[in-house]
Amino acid sequence: MTISLTPDTITILQAMQANDEIPARTLATKLEMDYIMVMAGVNELKEHGLGDFTEEEIIEYQLTEEGQDYAKNLLPESRLFKFIVQNELRQVSLNELRAKAEKELNIKDRMFFISLNHLRKAMWVSQTNIDGIPTIVVLKQEFEEKEEQALLEMINDSGVINREEIPGNLQEHIEVLKKRTLITEKKYTRRLLMLTGEGKAIKEKDISSVKEVTRLTREHIKTGEWRNVSFKAYDVEKPGPAIAPGRINPLVEIINKVREIFYSMGFMEIRGPIVESAFFNFDALFQPQDHPAREMHDTFYLEKPGSARLPGKKYVKRVSEVHENGGKTGSTGWGYTWDKRVAQQTVLRTHTTATTVRQLGKAIQQGVPLPLKVFSVDRVYRNEKVDRSHLAEFMQVEGIIIGDNVNLGDLRGTLVEFYKKMGFNRIITRPGFFPYTEPSMEISVYSEELETWMEIGGSGIFRPEVCEPWGIKEPTRVLAWGQGLERIAMLRLKRKDIRDLYKNPLSWLRRAPYPKL
Ligand code: PHE
Repeated sequence: MTISLTPDTITILQAMQANDEIPARTLATKLEMDYIMVMAGVNELKEHGLGDFTEEEIIEYQLTEEGQDYAKNLLPESRLFKFIVQNELRQVSLNELRAKAEKELNIKDRMFFISLNHLRKAMWVSQTNIDGIPTIVVLKQEFEEKEEQALLEMINDSGVINREEIPGNLQEHIEVLKKRTLITEKKYTRRLLMLTGEGKAIKEKDISSVKEVTRLTREHIKTGEWRNVSFKAYDVEKPGPAIAPGRINPLVEIINKVREIFYSMGFMEIRGPIVESAFFNFDALFQPQDHPAREMHDTFYLEKPGSARLPGKKYVKRVSEVHENGGKTGSTGWGYTWDKRVAQQTVLRTHTTATTVRQLGKAIQQGVPLPLKVFSVDRVYRNEKVDRSHLAEFMQVEGIIIGDNVNLGDLRGTLVEFYKKMGFNRIITRPGFFPYTEPSMEISVYSEELETWMEIGGSGIFRPEVCEPWGIKEPTRVLAWGQGLERIAMLRLKRKDIRDLYKNPLSWLRRAPYPKL
């Protein structure tokens, strides 16, 4: 009985009959064949019980150029320490050591401080202040080679080293050297090919070569060739091609989540004009008319429309009085002459606080029942240079609660609840400053991914100077908070460049996991 194999597989079989076991890669090189083709051939042999293979995960290390340098000339901290010992520098000022290291060892600038840090970590030296002068005190008397050095030299000797060849006591230094980019790690699967007894024994005369085809064609039928070909079997377990179906943009998913959370907490969404008066963007928020944030380099002013409508005279008057002398608030105000024309200037709103502050008048005039809880998630504009963490057009999430006797605890509770639902389990608030709130709190959340605290927004209780013009007074108070939406999105979507959220790189959109919310 003969076995039918494709021509490539026959070549592979014959090459393997000359070897005991052979790595797939070696065989591919030897036969000048594609690695994939070799594995396909071996699988065919396996189907016929002629061959098999084993798989092994290999981790290999190699020195970088810097690593090679240190393998030959010692790690810089060791060179520095050797120098210290040889010159018996028991106690030396940081500056002197720095000058000497540069002159004698050519270890300077960043390299010097990195080396010193390593020595401090190893507790070979320590740094203190003596008479106000940073001084290095040497704690170890003799020079000793570091274990990292032995590892570097070992890798240098063999060029490439398998993790398993590294002795146990040196293994712990691998991570350090990797972090210092002195070595690089390569992981791959090594497939070792072998023949079964049958495979070894099979003779050429027992094999017939077949052409394997994937498709039956008209030609095959017309010429009768179909009798001589072998049809490739379908592998129903092979994954099909990936498809990228339509989906909601990840940023929109985040926006929707923000809405859902606020709705679930009893808030209503409000929207306000993007083209805003300076009055609502600044004046109503007790920002003096010469406040630096109003400058052209922060704010986009509009030529058209050139002037904005202001609310009723009564309110404008109260706001102007608050600026000039504090009005009825007990505050002294800013003490300058308020100019209506400055308030009428039109701007692209720089924050959505312009939108929430518009609610203050409505709440009282329309007699809405308190507490009034509203939020906004909307566009704002700032004249910023665009880079990986800044956009000139971005979004803010903002909210206020107008209620009797509401306090800082309520504000904190609301924020903690919101961020928890947004997927941030730890938040801290710290004192902050905004011209329109007192007290003010800055909000930071802990990012599990980045393992760090990130400042994310501002909040506070609106000052009497903001509330009083609209008839809001004790015990009614306004809790307010606001923050950039993209900050949350970057953390949740793991994007390091804010522009990606709007450039929408297709490859990312296709792969992007649905945000875990
Ligand atoms: N408007 C502030 C900002 O743009 C945020 C803020 C809103 C602070 C409300 C306090 C109260 O950063």
